[in-house]
Amino acid sequence: MVTTPLRISLVGLGVAGRLHRSILGRMGARLTVVDPQQERAGEAPSWPSVDAMPTAAVAGTDVWSVCCPTADHLGVLRRILARQPSARVVLEKPACASAEVDDFRQLLASHPTARVVVIDQYAHARALDALGTTLAAHEPGRPVPQRVRVAFTKDRAADIAAGRFVDRDYGVLGYEWLHMLAVLRRVLPAPANTAYLTGDVGESLLRASYHPEFHTTALEERTVLASGTTLEMYSSILEPYVSDAPAPRDTSRWLPPGAARADRGRYVCMQAGETHARVDLDPVIAPGGWSLPRNTHRLTVRRSGELVEDRLITDSPLETAIRRGIDTLTGEAPVGAPDPGPLLRISRLADRLRGPADANGPAPTAASAGGDPLEAGHPAPASPRAHRPHRVGPGHPHLSPAPSTP
Ligand SMILES: NC(=O)c1ccc[n+]([C@@H]2O[C@H](COP(=O)([O-])OP(=O)(O)OC[C@H]3O[C@@H](n4cnc5c(N)ncnc54)[C@H](O)[C@@H]3O)[C@@H](O)[C@H]2O)c1
Repeated sequence: MVTTPLRISLVGLGVAGRLHRSILGRMGARLTVVDPQQERAGEAPSWPSVDAMPTAAVAGTDVWSVCCPTADHLGVLRRILARQPSARVVLEKPACASAEVDDFRQLLASHPTARVVVIDQYAHARALDALGTTLAAHEPGRPVPQRVRVAFTKDRAADIAAGRFVDRDYGVLGYEWLHMLAVLRRVLPAPANTAYLTGDVGESLLRASYHPEFHTTALEERTVLASGTTLEMYSSILEPYVSDAPAPRDTSRWLPPGAARADRGRYVCMQAGETHARVDLDPVIAPGGWSLPRNTHRLTVRRSGELVEDRLITDSPLETAIRRGIDTLTGEAPVGAPDPGPLLRISRLADRLRGPADANGPAPTAASAGGDPLEAGHPAPASPRAHRPHRVGPGHPHLSPAPSTP
């Protein structure tokens, strides 16, 4: 039984927790907070831990929203299920630490009446629908793209200095990589995506930047998928973002230079035939420092080097994901266990990056990580299988500039 308004216990009120709070607030939910930093709760009833909650507060929780640091997810979920075995839980990603995937699955298997949804904010993102549709319209004879590049970067230095959690387990894979895999699921044919997720991570060329404290701070992966598509994935956490998207011509809906910090970029590029389609996902920064209002995404299409489409798409992927997650949890239909594929993939990648590196591997350079790989037709890695992770010396602050795109 759920009540109206929905009563939600928010566990962890940091950056992600505050986003959940505002979305859940708009949904009319009544919130209580669990966070050892009690001062963060404001007016809401709060406790420092799940165990400290009075029985009535636990019984009065319809849905839990777990937004504490990743390393605490499994422990917190265990405490929630110990107190409320049939709990409904929205869990932030990654679901758990890399060594805990089996324990996580066992915990869910031993609580068959529990319902857990892991947030996947790009599962329904409208901008990705538009990307697929537009590519199909321009290249109707090419259902499979030749190249896909997914790059999500954010300079987290200021956040880390302000006390935001650091993922020392997954390193750079613990922040944006699951989002990037969620994007891939949207843009690749399902068999190619499944083969990639379950495939040997040794088949990819990896270039990583290591850090003595943060494990890895940048990673580039290149591989050729079963569909014949060349895939390039790139993420980093300690470098500023320099956009190489086309400059906006009509700036009427844009915010002027300086209105937003140029600290992050999230984009997906696909090439099929002569068409290069690119989606820049919120928060969008363009050359010259122009930025878009929140939850506005940009689709650009170039054909033979000429810009033929430039449009904006308004959508809040996180809000959609949370609303759908709560609908799923409170609905009548059975809720399956979360798909472990993406989590297992980043766990295997993190393991590989912790292993010995090949000192002869190619170092990331502006030419390898930068340039204009889709447009200029940089060659795909000839034999990705041959490469092992390459270390960029310990303490190296970041890779060379983020890979650029058409
Ligand atoms: N979906 C997204 O786009 C997105 C965005 C940001 C973060 N995240 C995920 O959300 C989680 C939190 O990240 P963040 O950046 O908000 O971290 P954060 O450091 O900003 O906040 C974490 C909060 O959890 C609290 N906390 C710590 N241990 C706790 C415990 N045992 N029980 C309850 N609260 C506890 C801290 O006091 C803090 O307030 C991570 O798993 C992260 O990967 C997801």
